Amino acid sequence: MLTVKINGKEVEVPAGTTILDAAKEAGVHIPVLCHDSRLNPFGACRVCLVEQVGMPKLQAACTTPVTDKMEIITESEKLSRVRKTAVELLLINHPLDCPVCDKGGECTLQDLTYEVGVTKVRFDAVPNDTPVDHTNPFIERDIDRCVLCGRCVRICDEVVNIQAISFLNRGTDTMIGTSFEQPWNCEYCGQCISVCPVGSLNNRVYLFKNRPWNLESEKTICGLCSCGCTVSIDYEGNEVFRMNDMPEEGVNHGYMCAKGRFGFDFMNSVKRETEAQVKVKGEAKKVSVTEAVEYAADKIKGVSKESVALVVSPRLTNEEAFLAAKLASAIGTSNVFSTETDEIMPEGTYEDVENSDALTVLNINVTESNPILGLAVRVAARKEGSSLLVFYPSMTALRRVSTKFVTGNPEKLAEEMEKFCAAMGGADNEYAADAKLMLDAEKPVLVFDPHSKADAYIAQEIKKACSKVKLVPAKHKNNSVGIVDMGCGAKSPAEFAAGVESGKIKAVVCLGENIVTRTGWSKLSGALQKLDLLMVTDPFMSDTAKLANVYIPVATFAEKNGSFTNLEGRVQLVSKAVDKGVPSDAEVLAALGKEFGAELPADAYSVRKLIEKEVKLYSGVEWDGGTVPYPSVFKKDMEKAAVTAKGSGRFYLYPASLRLHSGSYTRWSPDLAKVYGSPVLEVSVDDAKEMDLKDGDTVKLKGDSFTGEFVVEIDKQMTKGCISLPEDFADTADIFSNGRYLKAEIIK
Ligand code: SF4
Ligand code: SF4
Ligand code: SF4
Ligand code: FES
Repeated sequence: MLTVKINGKEVEVPAGTTILDAAKEAGVHIPVLCHDSRLNPFGACRVCLVEQVGMPKLQAACTTPVTDKMEIITESEKLSRVRKTAVELLLINHPLDCPVCDKGGECTLQDLTYEVGVTKVRFDAVPNDTPVDHTNPFIERDIDRCVLCGRCVRICDEVVNIQAISFLNRGTDTMIGTSFEQPWNCEYCGQCISVCPVGSLNNRVYLFKNRPWNLESEKTICGLCSCGCTVSIDYEGNEVFRMNDMPEEGVNHGYMCAKGRFGFDFMNSVKRETEAQVKVKGEAKKVSVTEAVEYAADKIKGVSKESVALVVSPRLTNEEAFLAAKLASAIGTSNVFSTETDEIMPEGTYEDVENSDALTVLNINVTESNPILGLAVRVAARKEGSSLLVFYPSMTALRRVSTKFVTGNPEKLAEEMEKFCAAMGGADNEYAADAKLMLDAEKPVLVFDPHSKADAYIAQEIKKACSKVKLVPAKHKNNSVGIVDMGCGAKSPAEFAAGVESGKIKAVVCLGENIVTRTGWSKLSGALQKLDLLMVTDPFMSDTAKLANVYIPVATFAEKNGSFTNLEGRVQLVSKAVDKGVPSDAEVLAALGKEFGAELPADAYSVRKLIEKEVKLYSGVEWDGGTVPYPSVFKKDMEKAAVTAKGSGRFYLYPASLRLHSGSYTRWSPDLAKVYGSPVLEVSVDDAKEMDLKDGDTVKLKGDSFTGEFVVEIDKQMTKGCISLPEDFADTADIFSNGRYLKAEIIK
C-alpha cells in the first residue's frame, strides 16, 4: 500500500491508484470532464489538474498514478486560474445557447462553468453553426457542442466493442463521426449518449420533450428482457419521458440496450386501452373491471374445474405469477401454463461471465437476445489470456472478440457442437485444443439457449464432462425464470395447445400472454374463439385480446410494484413510477380470487411474505438483489434431441433474435417500429447475388407447410444457404410453429 496526502489528509491506497481515485478515497472532490471511471484514463481536457508538492508541473489527476509519500494539493489560486482557463477555452467555439440545448440542466460543461466561476468569456470567437446530424434514428449529433472528450469513442470501443464512431481529422478540424461520413454501423445501445458530458449526442426519443428538473425518477428493473437491468424511469405526472441508465448501478453497471433506452414509449401509447370489455355474441361492450371479473368468474363456474386453464406471461412479476398459481388452486384446476419450462434453471452469474478465462457460446446470438449478457461476454473475451469459442449458423457481433467462430447450417452446426462436446469428454478430434482451453481454465463458462432442447442436452453433457463449467442458460423474457419458480412452468406448452384444440380446455384466463404470436401456439386462433371463456389481460388490444370475450387492460412494469428474477436467478425489486388508471394483474387476480373464496392480497409486499412461506426456494431470499439457491441446472436428465431441418427447399431457415424487439411490448413502441416495424428476411451476400436480390426486395418464402412474403435484407454475416427471420412476430411465429429449423425456398 502507498501513503498519499491529499490536501493534508493521509490515505492509504494500492499501487496503481490514480490521484483522482486517491482523492475520492480521501473524500476530496476534483472536477473532471473527459474522465469516466468505466473507461481507460484519457487525459484530454486538463480540467482535473492538481499540484504535486515539490513538482513544478501540474499533474492530470485522472491519468497520474500516485507514488508513495506523494503530497497533492487540489485547491489553490493557481489551480483556480488554470481550471478557469481550461473551461474558457472549451467555451470559445461552444454555442452559448443552453436554454435551447437538450442537455441543459444536466450538462457537465454547464456545471463546470459554474464550479470554476467563469462568468464571461474573454476570448472572441464566432461559434460554429454546423447543421445537426440526424442520420442515426435514435441519436442526434450536434458536433458544434462537442468538447472532444472522447468518451463516446472510448465507450463504443472499450465497452461496446463496435467502434461505430471515431475521431476524424486533425488539429482544429478534429471531430467525432463515422469514417467518410458513412452511415453509423451502430448497435443503438446509446451508451455514447449516456457518457457524453454535453449536448453533442442526444437521445432523439426524449429530445425537446421535457426539462430534466421537471422530471421525477424511480429506480426499477427494465421489463423488456431477462438481463434485469437497473434503470431509472423519469416521469412527470403520469407520463414517462425517459428510461435512463443509472451510471455504474445494477448488474448492467449502468449500461442499457436499444430496447430499454429507446423503446419505452409504448408506456405512453395512445393505443393503450383504458376500459375493460365483455363480448357477448360478438358484440363488445365496455364494462367496469368488477363487471368483467364477475362475468369471467360466472363462465368459469359454468365449466368443470379441470377444463379451466391459466396462461401466465413471463412479463408478470413473481408476485403476480404466485397469485395466478393460487387462483388456479382456488378454482380447483392444475392447469397453469406458460411458454417457459421448469426443466432448466440458472447457474452462472454476470460475475462468473465477466471473470471467466474460457467461454463457449453455444448457438445463441447473445448480443441480440440478451444484450447485457452479450456485453459481459465481450468484456471477458477481450481480457488478456481468455478465450471465446462461438457456435452459431452465421457470424455475429462476437466474431470480433472470438478465438474461434464456427458457422454452418443448423444440421452441420449441430454436428460440430457434438464433436466439441465429445472433445470435452476426451475424444481426440478437431476440437481437442478448444476443449483443452475450457478444461484447463480456472473459470470456464458456457452460455446456451435453454429453449433449444438439442443445445440444452449438449450443455448438460459438457457439464458432466467438466463440472467446473458454469452454465448460463440465457432465458429470454424479463421474468422467464421467476414465473417458473412460482409454479407456472410445470406443464408443457404442447399440453395447452392439445387441450385447447381438443376442447378439453373450455375456459382460459390468459394473463398478459399474446398466445397467438407464440411459437407452438400460433395456430390456436380458431380454437380459442370456440372456448366458453377467453379472458385476456394486456395493456394493449393484442392479437389474442381481440379474440377474447373478456378483456381487461392492465399495467406495464412501470406502473406496478413487485419483483423479477433475471437470467442469473437474481431477484430484483420493480417499483411503480406512474399510474395509468388501469389495474395491475395482481389486482385482477385478487378480485377473481374473491369470486372463488380465496382472499388473495394484491399488494406486492404481502404477496412476498406469502411466497417466503410457501415457495421453498424463496424462503430466505434477499428480494433486492439476492440469487435463488437452485439445487441444479437440470431438473432431470435431458434427452438427446436430433437437429433436422423440416421440409424441402434450397435454404435452411432459422429463428433469429432481434436487439430491437423481444416480445409483445416492444412492438407497440413507435420509435422502435420506425427502425424495425415488421420481420425482415436476412439473406447472404452470395445467395443474393445468385438470385439477383437487392435490399428491400419483397420475396415469397415457401416451405412445405407455410408461405409468406417478406422484405429482404442482405447481411454480410449470413452463411451461404442459410436465411433467418425473427420469431417474435405473429406471422413468423406461425412459420416456426412448424419447427425450429426449416427448409424453404425463396421465390422472386
Ligand atoms: S449507440 Fe452504442 S454502438 Fe452506436 S455509436 Fe453509440 S456506443 Fe457505439
Ligand atoms: S460527442 Fe460528446 S462524448 Fe463524444 S467527444 Fe464530443 S463531447 Fe465527448
Ligand atoms: S431490454 Fe434487457 S438488456 Fe435492454 S435495458 Fe432492458 S433488461 Fe437491459
Ligand atoms: S478529467 Fe482529467 S484530463 Fe480530463
